[in-house]
Amino acid sequence: GRVAVVMGGSSTERSVSLDSGRNVLAALQARGVDAHAVDGIPALLDALRAGRFDRVFNILHGQHGGGEDGVLQGALEALNVPYTGSGVLGSALSMDKTRSKRVWQSLGLPTPAFMPLPRGAEVQAAARTIGFPLIVKPACEGSSVGVSRVFDASQLDQAVALATQYPGDMLMETLIEGAELTVSILGRDVLPSIHIVPKAQFYDFNAKYVAEDTQYLCPGLDGEAEASLRALALQAFDALGCNGWGRVDVMRDRQGRNWLLEVNTAPGMTSHSLVPKAAAAAGIDYQELCWRVLETSFA
Ligand code: DAL
Ligand code: MG
Repeated sequence: GRVAVVMGGSSTERSVSLDSGRNVLAALQARGVDAHAVDGIPALLDALRAGRFDRVFNILHGQHGGGEDGVLQGALEALNVPYTGSGVLGSALSMDKTRSKRVWQSLGLPTPAFMPLPRGAEVQAAARTIGFPLIVKPACEGSSVGVSRVFDASQLDQAVALATQYPGDMLMETLIEGAELTVSILGRDVLPSIHIVPKAQFYDFNAKYVAEDTQYLCPGLDGEAEASLRALALQAFDALGCNGWGRVDVMRDRQGRNWLLEVNTAPGMTSHSLVPKAAAAAGIDYQELCWRVLETSFA
């Protein structure tokens, strides 16, 4: 059948999604799939109602027209069109970092201490409760958009002003100092972890997509440590009701404890992105990876 590769959209991560989507489209076409680009949810729904596609490869990132937050998934369920990745619940819950953390906490899974910050909340008091250093971030953005590290009270207002530029609530969370790790999930396989070593202090938007000097170590850990990190990532993914594929972001502190940050249900597939690197380390090239993701829509 014909596959719509839906990309772009209207979220803050539009440019990242277009980059991911163009790569996915080329790979699927090279694999012989009758795949076509569609930009955004309205165009996709029009095309589906016109009967132009049988299946959707969703590589939209982000919320609000981003297609990663459950809205698109619900529409596709209603239209009875198969699609890649998580369903309504897993997508919606993963998009909300605060509520993801509440679910993990309730199951005893480790996630950094946090305070939700509704708009207009008293931030200095919240910061004293959490303690410095801490992170301020929008609860529902991706690609580190709107995220700040805050080392003392003087940096707080600026961090909150930045996060407030994005819709929805914010979140204040303990900054875990140590190693940034990520674990990719593909079908029921958990791929080798990646330890991200940004040249700058922080794996921000620039380090993610622009800088060429970010180092990636894969697998990120050895032996038992790697095995338990992968097991934790899969538990975290399952806890949020996710399925198909995704990427679980984790901080590992200097004592070797892992802390869950978030799950990405339509993770980046750009040339700089992490899932393709983890797949490559597992002997899965980019074309095969795209095919395996497409297969998640057959389940
Ligand atoms: N939100 C970006 C696309 C990622 O997680 O890769
Ligand atoms: Mg994310």
